[in-house]
Amino acid sequence: MLLHNHSFPHLLLLYLQTPETCVPPGTPHKPHLRFPRSSCDTSPREHVPIEKKNKRLWSTKIWKKTVGSYIEFFQAIQDLGLLNNDSKVLCVSAGAGHEVMALTEMGVLDVTGVELVESSPRVSRADPHNLQFFDDVFDLAFSGHLAEALFPSRFASEIERTVRWWGVFACS
Ligand SMILES: *[C@@H]1O[C@H](CO)[C@@H](O)[C@H](O)[C@H]1NC(C)=O
Repeated sequence: MLLHNHSFPHLLLLYLQTPETCVPPGTPHKPHLRFPRSSCDTSPREHVPIEKKNKRLWSTKIWKKTVGSYIEFFQAIQDLGLLNNDSKVLCVSAGAGHEVMALTEMGVLDVTGVELVESSPRVSRADPHNLQFFDDVFDLAFSGHLAEALFPSRFASEIERTVRWWGVFACS
């Protein structure tokens, strides 16, 4: 579905078929593990270097499957002629970085992922209501969160300021 809205950058509302991609950012990938750990939790925490943690995470089936479904999704955008390897793309509320990895694997050279919580190395910390970018720097932006994308108006105006095309993942 393609929507045009005069008070907003060109808005693409697209449907992802895979329900796994519709988890909120920061949702643990292993739901049986307790999350978040409270500050009163005194049990020892395993210290794993970030590179090792990432390697582990990126080799899981669920991670690969989710990245695969984002690749399919972005290929559809490519087919619309809105995305190519030289596009500057912003992923807002990028979570652990699935969509950033998907775009990178497709060959898109300039991908920026932001989220309230950093997820090194693909997603950096940013407040979506106050993006630290200059005006009109991005060709395309995506968010997995329709509600955030449309409200509140501050969020919308930040997107309007920095982006030409704006896409929203919705789950079918
Ligand atoms: C985009 O990059 C990918 C990966 O490097 C490459 O396979 C593909 O041919 C590139 N597309 C274009 C149109 O250059």
